[in-house]
Amino acid sequence: MYNYYRPTRAEISLDALRSNIGTFRSSVPDGMKLLASVKANAYGHGLIQISQEAEACGVDYLGVAFLDEAIQIRRSGVMMPILVLGYVPPNGLDMARSLDITIALFRDDVLKAARSLPENSSKKLKVHIKLDTGMGRLGKLADGSADAMRFIEAALRVPQLGVEGLFTHFAKSDEADKNYTKLQHERFAAVVHEVRSRSLPIEIVHSANTAAGIDTPELGGDMLRLGIGMYGLYPSPEVDHSKVRLKPVLSLKTEVVMVKELRESWGISYGTRYFAEAGERIGTIPIGYADGFSRLLTGKAHVLIRGQRVPVLGTICMDQCMISLGAAEAAGGGPVATEEEAVLIGSQLGAEITAEEVADQLGTINYELICMLAARVPRVYMRNGRVVAVSNALDAQ
Ligand SMILES: Cc1ncc(COP(=O)(O)O)c(C=O)c1O
Repeated sequence: MYNYYRPTRAEISLDALRSNIGTFRSSVPDGMKLLASVKANAYGHGLIQISQEAEACGVDYLGVAFLDEAIQIRRSGVMMPILVLGYVPPNGLDMARSLDITIALFRDDVLKAARSLPENSSKKLKVHIKLDTGMGRLGKLADGSADAMRFIEAALRVPQLGVEGLFTHFAKSDEADKNYTKLQHERFAAVVHEVRSRSLPIEIVHSANTAAGIDTPELGGDMLRLGIGMYGLYPSPEVDHSKVRLKPVLSLKTEVVMVKELRESWGISYGTRYFAEAGERIGTIPIGYADGFSRLLTGKAHVLIRGQRVPVLGTICMDQCMISLGAAEAAGGGPVATEEEAVLIGSQLGAEITAEEVADQLGTINYELICMLAARVPRVYMRNGRVVAVSNALDAQ
C-alpha cells in the first residue's frame, strides 16, 4: 500500500466543494432541490469521493451520464438517489432497478422494454422523462405535438415504472441573452401545465444547470442540476459572477525535479523549439500531455514558482516539461532548488493561474480542461489544510 511517488497531483479542496454547495443552497429559491452532477469522474475531481462528500453535504440527488457511472457509485456504498441523465439501453433496465438507480426515459423502444421487465410490485424502475425543448440532443420533442404527452401517459401506465420526474436541458443558459432559455422554458412549461391539469402524479420537474441556477433560477423548476458551479467554476464569462461567490475546488501541482544552468543555444525538448540564453536557469517538472497538460499548450503555458509566473519552454513532452526559473529567482530567495512547488492551475502566494486562463490557451472551456486531467494523476483530498484521502488509480487494490 502506497500513496504515490511522483509529486504531480490534483489537490481537491473539500472545504471549497462544501462552500460552493452551501452557496447554491442559499441562493436558489426555498425548497429547490439540488442534484450534484458527478458525471465524467466528477468533472475530473474523482467520482466516488465527490459523490460521498456531496451526500454528506445533504444534496438530494446525484447525476451521472451513463449507467456504469451510477453502478460504480452504488458499489462504493452511496445509497442516495442517482439519476442517469443520458441513455440507458434496454439491457441495463433490470440492473438499474435492482440498484435503485433512476434513469432518463425518452425512447419508445426502451419504454416497451420496460414493460417486459419481470413484475415486482415492491420495486419499480424510477424514471425521469426527458423532453427536448430546443437542445436537439436527447428527449421527446416538446414541440406542441401530442407526442410528449402520449409518451408520459404511456409511461405512467407501465406497472414496472415509477415516473418520478420530468426534465429538460437548456442550450444557451450561459449566455447573456436569455431569450432562447425563455423559449425553452415556455415549451417545457406547456407540457408541465398539461401534466398538472390532468393531475398526473409527477413529483419533480427540473431544467436548470449551473448557469440557469445563477441567472434565472425562477425558470429552473423543482431541482437545480448543479455541475460546474459545484466545482467552483463559472459556466461562462457571461453569467452574472456577482450573484454567487465560488471557490475553485481543484488545483494542479507538482515539484521541480531537476535544475540546471545552460550554456547559450542549448536546445530544449523535442524539436528544440527553444534555445537557452547564456546561463539561463531551467527547471524540469514531471507533468506532461499524458497527464492532461496538453501538448497544445506548448509556447503558451505558464506555471507559478514562488508566486511568480514563469513560462514553460519548448515542447511539452508526454510526462515532463521544462520551465524558465529566471523570474522566480529574480524575485529573491536565491536559486530555485529541486522539490520547490510548481502550480499549473491554482493559487500560490497570492498569484493565480485559473482553469479559464489555461482553457483559453487551448481554445476550449474550463469544463473540458478539468475533464482532461488523466486518471494517472493522483487526486489528493484536503480538508482544513490537511490531506484526508488520496485516490491513485495506479494504486487500486
Ligand atoms: C442534462 C444535464 N444537466 C445538468 C448538467 C450540469 O451542467 P453544468 O455543469 O453546466 O451545471 C449537465 C452537464 O452538462 C447535463 O448534461
